[in-house]
Amino acid sequence: MKKILLVFGTRPEAIKMCPLVIELKQRENFDVVVCVSGQHKEMLQEVLNVFGVTPNYNLAIMKENQDLFDITINILGRIRMILSQEKPDIVLVHGDTTTAFATALACFYMKIPIGHVEAGLRTYDMDAPYPEEMNRQFISLVAKYNFVPTERARQNLLSEKKNPASIFVTGNTVIDAMKTTIEKQYFNPVLEWVGENRLILLTAHRRENIGNPMQNIFRAIKRITVENPNVRVIYPIHMNPTVRKICSEILKDNSQVKIIEPLNVVDFHNMMAQSYLIVTDSGGIQEEAPALGKPVIVCRDTTERPEGVEAGTLLLAGTKEESIYCAINKLLHDEKEYVKMSHAVNPYGDGHACRKIADVLEG
Ligand code: UD1
Ligand code: UDP
Repeated sequence: MKKILLVFGTRPEAIKMCPLVIELKQRENFDVVVCVSGQHKEMLQEVLNVFGVTPNYNLAIMKENQDLFDITINILGRIRMILSQEKPDIVLVHGDTTTAFATALACFYMKIPIGHVEAGLRTYDMDAPYPEEMNRQFISLVAKYNFVPTERARQNLLSEKKNPASIFVTGNTVIDAMKTTIEKQYFNPVLEWVGENRLILLTAHRRENIGNPMQNIFRAIKRITVENPNVRVIYPIHMNPTVRKICSEILKDNSQVKIIEPLNVVDFHNMMAQSYLIVTDSGGIQEEAPALGKPVIVCRDTTERPEGVEAGTLLLAGTKEESIYCAINKLLHDEKEYVKMSHAVNPYGDGHACRKIADVLEG
């Protein structure tokens, strides 16, 4: 019996790790233990509820306006005892959050093997995304198993001289998650407010965008609503108080913008499917939207998801008001361009990533 400890702590990690928890628990050869860092609180709990996953441990580290020291120090301090107590054969972490980084560092100190899910994503720019690029490069330094979503991610690791035998192309577990969340007949009361208008779904939260770039995103949206009476914007706003403050300065009292609490993942995926286009600085949404054939204006200067750009679904618009405005405006008024960007493609696998990861771990 192999003891596998999965550690995650934010909404996107939970969305991508819960299907793996479920898959591993179905197998007889694994003793599965789940530890959440609680880097997120409400936004994490929503996902755990959707997937019916109850963690064995919750480090409950979140505090308002936490900084990177808070997250790192508190996880390192609290996870040590759990690792000593549980003595897992392997610890699985996901992606590039500070939860994943601090956990990998703790495992490295304790010589516990690490499996990295969603490995190999890179911008090679330490400032964007910040601090995620450093987090994921560090995890790659110490991981024993690298579960990469795409061939390109594998190539990134090979170019960094990682052992080819440690790399497994599995697809992204978010595609596994989407098999359970997308509903054929979906209804949400907020869609009545949208009516026959065009729905833009908006999200923004990146640390490096806080300040001017985020103001630019909201200003571009404001301009679009003023010039296009047939546009409605739904913004399930991140719980970060700084994001909320910037948003309310620019978008409050705009009758074409509905700012709502974060949606649970089922609602969010289905809302994506109902939208005309998506404006975001999120990482995960760049993987989900191509599968749904929804154009995404990515409000960032770089992306670690070039597969979606090449497939034509993602447009990297930068973080200037003018460039974001022009990108949205083009999609609203240039039918040909819109059609070109709205073909459903799925560079992120066949929805069997969890099975493939479990097979490797079993082997
Ligand atoms: C974190 C990750 C980022 C990921 C994002 C997903 C790091 C450094 N950042 O960034 O990679 O893209 O999650 O959303 O790992 N808050 C709540 N309740 C919640 C969640 C957050 O109140 O359930 C508030 C808290 O005040 C918290 C703040 O949001 O201090 C910021 O959360 P934090 O995890 O530090 O940063 P994110 O921007 O969410
Ligand atoms: N998401 C959600 N509710 C929302 C907004 C996003 O469930 O209100 C989901 C979305 O479908 C994706 C993930 O959260 O799976 C992305 O999270 P986020 O943008 O916070 O983080 P990132 O992917 O940038 O790390």
